[in-house]
Amino acid sequence: MINTILIGDVFETIKSIPDNYVDVTITSPPYWGLRNYGTAMWEGGREYCNHESAKIKTRFDYKFTGFQEKYKSSDAAIFKNECPDCGAIQKDFQLGNEPHYNMYIDKLILLFSEIKRITKPTGSIWVNLGDTYSTKPVGRFNGKPTHSTATSGQLDKTLSGVPNKSQIMVPERFAIRMIDDLGLIKRNTIIWKRSPYFQHQLRIDLLMTLNISFSLQLIQSIILSSS
Ligand SMILES: C[S@@+](CC[C@H](N)C(=O)[O-])C[C@H]1O[C@@H](n2cnc3c(N)ncnc32)[C@H](O)[C@@H]1O
Repeated sequence: MINTILIGDVFETIKSIPDNYVDVTITSPPYWGLRNYGTAMWEGGREYCNHESAKIKTRFDYKFTGFQEKYKSSDAAIFKNECPDCGAIQKDFQLGNEPHYNMYIDKLILLFSEIKRITKPTGSIWVNLGDTYSTKPVGRFNGKPTHSTATSGQLDKTLSGVPNKSQIMVPERFAIRMIDDLGLIKRNTIIWKRSPYFQHQLRIDLLMTLNISFSLQLIQSIILSSS
């Protein structure tokens, strides 16, 4: 058996996979508006510019050093789209930072239409997708965005039309579109309930800025079948 690993923007790499080719897809896309994975690249501008003037500083750039070291993997810096020093433009293909949840779901549906194409008629698709709350950018400190506003790209989720403090129900909206738009059969929902201990270990600093019920976060896995 030969394994092949494709690395790159999923919207591009998936095109190289033939129709009716895979039995199972298991995927955990970025949830909407929660994280910046730091995959952005600069195009144009000056070769050795570090785009420092484009960086949007958080309070951790001013204080509390040590935090960034600890959370390096999830604390990607955020930048303005254009560098004021050299004019380079930031291009980012990562999912999850769209200004409206419907734009995020539109992209997912585009992707899953491709996943449907590559899935055999007997195959199945497993999606791990979590929800988020409608909130305004939270936790400004001395006028600077905090870690959580940095990682969520400073989205004001209340502008999406969902009332402040309500769950947005992204997984449910996505599941309905998968059925209605792509004709997939939703077979089940699996609730992944993390223990408070597990949550504490991983997310204590992020929890401080989020609704307390996040500690009982329910992560929904949706099983879909194409036949
Ligand atoms: C929730 S994580 C999933 C992590 C993965 N399940 C693992 O165990 O490593 C989402 C991942 O999707 C990646 N991602 C976001 N947009 C992408 C895109 N357009 N193409 C490929 N990967 C993308 C992010 O960089 C991140 O690593």
